[in-house]
Amino acid sequence: SQAKINIAIDGPAGAGKSTIARMVAGRLSYVYVDTGAMYRAATWYFLQQGIGPDEVDKVLQIVPDLVIELLPGEHGQQVIVGGQDVTEEIRSMAVNAKVSRYAQIEGLRTRLVSLQRQMALRKGVVMDGRDIGTTVLPDAEVKIYMTASVEERARRRYREMKEQDRVSFEELVSSIAERDRLDQEREVSPLRQAPDATYLDTTEMSLEEVADRIVSLCRNYGSERGTR
Ligand code: CDP
Ligand code: CDP
Repeated sequence: SQAKINIAIDGPAGAGKSTIARMVAGRLSYVYVDTGAMYRAATWYFLQQGIGPDEVDKVLQIVPDLVIELLPGEHGQQVIVGGQDVTEEIRSMAVNAKVSRYAQIEGLRTRLVSLQRQMALRKGVVMDGRDIGTTVLPDAEVKIYMTASVEERARRRYREMKEQDRVSFEELVSSIAERDRLDQEREVSPLRQAPDATYLDTTEMSLEEVADRIVSLCRNYGSERGTR
């Protein structure tokens, strides 16, 4: 079989990155790494410690001891921080509202980026986030920049929300748009399409179509190399 490669998937919230990354990883028998879950886990931890996103010195004091684990679980990936399972908690609106603020802190990013690079050393990784193709894995063999209209992305998120924590559709659109803005405008590794990334607008695409496109890009990469 083909030599393993790394696949980087970036884009704004609700574009379909994690669903697609999981599907592609399954089809290729690769490992899926959700870097957003790491920023979310860190956010949950700081909130629990009562440390706000503006208290940069306090955040940086904790960062060296921050232990975040991603474990393949029965129902998808399990996220553990400081020994505690926070898989559900990190998807809360409280974390949604703050994660992009903590994600601006350079010292936190440096630490998470180094953990992420370690996970990709052995190749065969599908990693999704905001800065994977630009910063974390600039040498990834296949890079995707995935997006969709903000309304479509909010619709997707709305559909997957549980009844009890539903917010209005308008609120969801504005919270997603605000997070996109913070992620695109931050100074340290903002959300950007890498120059060598394939742009995929998934507004009108099904999950299968998107996954097929990426798997075929990966297969082509392998065969082009083979004939060189
Ligand atoms: O799943 P969703 O697209 O809503 O977000 P996520 O991928 O879980 O990421 C949550 C937040 O973490 C993003 O809005 C970014 O602020 C931050 N993040 C980042 O800065 N860099 C990454 N590589 C991944 C996430
Ligand atoms: O990771 P990211 O925030 O980019 O998006 P996601 O959590 O993978 O996708 C958000 C929701 O949109 C999921 O429920 C997907 O099943 C759905 N989706 C879809 O219906 N059609 C697509 N082409 C992509 C995602």
